[in-house]
Amino acid sequence: MTNLGVNIDHIATIRNARGEDHPYPYQAAKNAIKYGANSITIHLREDRRHIKDNDLKIISSIKNLPLNLEMAATSRMLKIALKYKPNYVCIVPEKRREITTEGGLNLIKNKKMIKFIINKLNKKKIRTSLFINPSIKDIKLAKNFGANCIEIHTGTISNLVKRNINFKNEFIKVKKCAEFAESLNLEVHAGHGLDYKTTSLLTRIPQISEYNIGHFIIGESIEYGLKNVIKKFKKILKYK
Ligand code: PXP
Repeated sequence: MTNLGVNIDHIATIRNARGEDHPYPYQAAKNAIKYGANSITIHLREDRRHIKDNDLKIISSIKNLPLNLEMAATSRMLKIALKYKPNYVCIVPEKRREITTEGGLNLIKNKKMIKFIINKLNKKKIRTSLFINPSIKDIKLAKNFGANCIEIHTGTISNLVKRNINFKNEFIKVKKCAEFAESLNLEVHAGHGLDYKTTSLLTRIPQISEYNIGHFIIGESIEYGLKNVIKKFKKILKYK
């Protein structure tokens, strides 16, 4: 079966809108696991616009909660990761003024730092993943850097599917990348902009072993409840 990671950043977005404590990201994290999520993803952004340091502190202390920390490739973030020891780290690019993570990492530009971080985290047995665009060149680099996994940025294909535009070429690109990454012994994950439709489509690529989904799950939960939304995604992933 394929794993579902639930990104709860936007529970924190709603909490922060009021500057108070409610709703509680740790509660959403616990519930998501109870309802069948395989892991919880949080992105501690440098500007702390949603998840805060205290959320990481609390959530990383919950027992039996597989935690995937998304973070930028900086020495400050590395220090934080080594302090709270999440099970997994996914290194992502970050720009201050972007609404969300707009694309994959620039592996060439950040080579030294990314390699350094992977090395440090691997020594602490923290699984490392690199958030990249569907690109064979980047997959080769990810392998060369010592990453355990790649997470393919699915923003482009998600947008095409949502807008009913021909997605065939993008699908083939993602598929070829997933096959190539698996041949190099890299675990293949997918994330960004995923909804039921694009996730169903991507399940035709058996190499993808983990989906990390945030905004759509939290948005749908307002209408249908977190439990039902997770259940529906699990059903989609089981029948791959
Ligand atoms: N995976 C990664 C690496 C991300 O940075 C994000 C958030 O941008 C997601 C998955 C989840 O994306 P979304 O909220 O669009 O589902």
